Amino acid sequence: MHATVRGFEIYKGYLDAAAQAGLVADIRHVAESAPMFSPETPYGKPMSVRMTSAGSVGWYADRSGYRYAPTHPSGVDWPPIPDAVLTLWHELTGVKHPPDCCLINYYGEGARMGMHQDKDEADFKWPVLSVSLGDAGLFRIGNTTRGGKTESLWLDSGDVVVMGGDARLTYHGVDRIRFGSSSLLPKGGRINLTCRVVR
Ligand code: SIN
Ligand code: FE2
Repeated sequence: MHATVRGFEIYKGYLDAAAQAGLVADIRHVAESAPMFSPETPYGKPMSVRMTSAGSVGWYADRSGYRYAPTHPSGVDWPPIPDAVLTLWHELTGVKHPPDCCLINYYGEGARMGMHQDKDEADFKWPVLSVSLGDAGLFRIGNTTRGGKTESLWLDSGDVVVMGGDARLTYHGVDRIRFGSSSLLPKGGRINLTCRVVR
């Protein structure tokens, strides 16, 4: 099913169980060489979400700010973006240019992500593709400026969202997850992948 909410293209149930399990295996493989970590925000508080990346650059945060880094904090290169993710990107965005970064976020029990814009990339003409796996997450969509009325919807395992066009700089966040609502990840939790063209 396809719906548009404030310019975000929502593809409910886009990935079947086999595709979801395949992506989880791919992500596990990425995390073996580039382990998940909790970045510190510029305010000095660790984020509740754990993350890593695949691609030529990875998203990183510390006290000096948010940016894309050429290597994992351990010094190793970020692993390549899995083929299945690249296929999804081309299929749903229609963009020929490949993404430079696939950010992998893991939400354990109690993790959340505050309202923000994705704006660390050089050119906002490229869309962002977001894939949800595992436990359901309550996704909040706001406006292109901070504040104002928002709309929330549950993103379930296998749902894919394209954030592009006029909605590319729309504020969004995850208020909470429904821990244990999916059996995809043996230990529970939610994974979200976001692919971006960075340069
Ligand atoms: C993000 O905005 O980086 C994550 C969105 C999500 O977890 O659904
Ligand atoms: Fe985001």
